[in-house]
Amino acid sequence: MGAVGKARYRARIAARKLMRTARPSIRRAELVGPPEIWAMKRRFQIDFLTSRGLRPEHRLLDVGCGVLRGGIPLIEYLQSGHYAGIEARAHVLEEGRKELAKAGLEHKRPLLLNASDPAQIELPDRFDYVWAHSVLYHMPDEVVDGYLGLIAGCLSDGGQFYANVKLRARERPDGQPAHSWQGFPVVGRSREFYERAAAAYGLAVEDVGTLESLGDQSKGGAKEMMMRFTKAPR
Ligand SMILES: C[S@@+](CC[C@H](N)C(=O)[O-])C[C@H]1O[C@@H](n2cnc3c(N)ncnc32)[C@H](O)[C@@H]1O
Repeated sequence: MGAVGKARYRARIAARKLMRTARPSIRRAELVGPPEIWAMKRRFQIDFLTSRGLRPEHRLLDVGCGVLRGGIPLIEYLQSGHYAGIEARAHVLEEGRKELAKAGLEHKRPLLLNASDPAQIELPDRFDYVWAHSVLYHMPDEVVDGYLGLIAGCLSDGGQFYANVKLRARERPDGQPAHSWQGFPVVGRSREFYERAAAAYGLAVEDVGTLESLGDQSKGGAKEMMMRFTKAPR
């Protein structure tokens, strides 16, 4: 084999090795969305929350935390024990634990709960911030309702809950989701749905802006609204 042949051979072996090592992280990324937007989505979450006043001493609950795509920078930023995540799929949370170990952040002692039914969840703390990134539209109405009840009960005074949602002018007449994603529905809802559901638990809702206007560069960012839920003044 000549020098060029040897170089090509070495390049091929190196590329294969790279693919083998990259694959587990690509597989992990795919559990929460397209791998090509992983880094942007990771950055967006901490940038958004800190721009809305999140400080290291605050406590944050991350509903539908997935594999800690957004969780890792938040865990790093917050004081030890101030991050709690809830994730419905056990194998996804397991990947989140691996991501935590890979980041060398186990010493920050996040609380990671595998749960999907808000009625079964008991939280040890109150939270200054609750975050549900790309999660509410993967839940059926009754689960959204249950989480709003849970969140209303665990938000500290002055606490804030942020969630991006897919808005549509009115509910679909057949009440069925148009799509599904990894076994979850993809549900667009009217603003009135969220206002009504939130009001039932004493929460007020306002629009913060589309994801696109907030710096999220994903394809559907112009169509998703970030909403802010706070305890309504009595
Ligand atoms: C699109 S992923 C977003 C994950 C994470 N928030 C992020 O941005 O990286 C939605 C996540 O919500 C989780 N999820 C769906 N329904 C849930 C439920 N009822 N309780 C907790 N997590 C849920 C899914 O398993 C999935 O990991």
